[in-house]
Amino acid sequence: MHEKTSYEDIYLFLKKATQENKDYHLLTFFSEVVNLLKSHFEKMDWVGFYLVDEEHSTLYLGPYRDGVDACENIPKGKGVCGTAYQEEKTQLVNDVHQLTNYIACSSSTQSEIVLPCFHNGKIIAVLDIDSDQQAAFDSEDQEQLERILSLTKEIQR
Ligand code: SME
Repeated sequence: MHEKTSYEDIYLFLKKATQENKDYHLLTFFSEVVNLLKSHFEKMDWVGFYLVDEEHSTLYLGPYRDGVDACENIPKGKGVCGTAYQEEKTQLVNDVHQLTNYIACSSSTQSEIVLPCFHNGKIIAVLDIDSDQQAAFDSEDQEQLERILSLTKEIQR
């Protein structure tokens, strides 16, 4: 992929991968989403998935880049990720310092977007993207990222 890679390029790349490889796995998808976003968008300082553990009502850390500061488990309802899990809705946070229900993993984070990810009608993970810039994400990012995550419907396993 070229230097000015867009959400559309990433969507098309992943769509091709999910359609052409019948053995394509959800974990592969998560890893590729993380890598593609982190590699092509400078404003994204931490990109990672938290996976749903339904039995324990918690999220656990999945594929991510970069940095070492990441919580390994997040209870349902706790922080921005736990809220996205509980409400099954995207959370767009322009300024993390305004939140009381927030888990600070890195002191440099200023804004954040967390999106639920569904498979066969059930929430299976959330995608968490943190930025060191204030208000780094808007409704256009939300729409494009939700479109990328909707590709899970192409994945069988
Ligand atoms: N800030 C997130 C926690 C995850 S870390 O940022 C990687 C939250 O409040 O849920």
